[in-house]
Amino acid sequence: MDEARADRDTPIVRRREMLSWPVALVCGSAVLTGCGTTRQASSAATSTPAPTREQAPEVPVTPPEDLMREHGVLKRVLLIYREGIRRISAGEQVPAQPLHAGAGIIRTFIEEYHEQLEERYVFPPLVKARKLTDIVSVLVRQHQRGRVLTGRILDATAHPTPRQARRDLVANMAAFIRMYEPHEAREDTVVFPAMREVISPKEFTEMAETFEDEEHRRFGAAGFTGIVGQVADIEKTLGIYDLNQFTPRL
Ligand SMILES: [Fe+2]
Ligand SMILES: [Fe+2]
Repeated sequence: MDEARADRDTPIVRRREMLSWPVALVCGSAVLTGCGTTRQASSAATSTPAPTREQAPEVPVTPPEDLMREHGVLKRVLLIYREGIRRISAGEQVPAQPLHAGAGIIRTFIEEYHEQLEERYVFPPLVKARKLTDIVSVLVRQHQRGRVLTGRILDATAHPTPRQARRDLVANMAAFIRMYEPHEAREDTVVFPAMREVISPKEFTEMAETFEDEEHRRFGAAGFTGIVGQVADIEKTLGIYDLNQFTPRL
């Protein structure tokens, strides 16, 4: 099974259910990172009875992990935009449909979901604690500017693109990439780590539950996995899905 099919066909596992699984079951393949205790649990399981669901230690999915993998979706759409810019700059036909689909994911998954979570749950505790206030105000302004750019990209790719509009489309996608690469990198390395300084462990756990509920309310049972499958389909359409094509020949 290829990775794209795996993205879509993997049974959907609600994180709350996963939280209640024995670590040995969750990390049974010993492939997942952060499963250092898994190997201990697995080897112990050979000589002692398997722990019950109630006794088993939990594998927490924290809000920063949740937000960072959403950034992975954002990054993959930036790569889709970059491929669109490459083709248009080379005089090729505008790949309007894939670009429109990518911008649609930015609109629904990043702007109307991920950024709403940041503005509602991540930024306010930092501002209240007077931490990173300058950065937060820039990030909020960038969210607003990003929505303007996405509106332009959606409009430009909804119909056949005239020559002048091609230049504007390239400029708007380039501006979006230029802004969001440092934006998400700053959130991953500075803002999300700071959450631990201003949010209690209890609030962290409650926030994880809130994020989980909101994800499935908005995106159905497939949730994040379904969105990743949509991105993989766009990448396949553009011929940028195969990861190995990006490995340099040395
Ligand atoms: Fe953000
Ligand atoms: Fe973000």
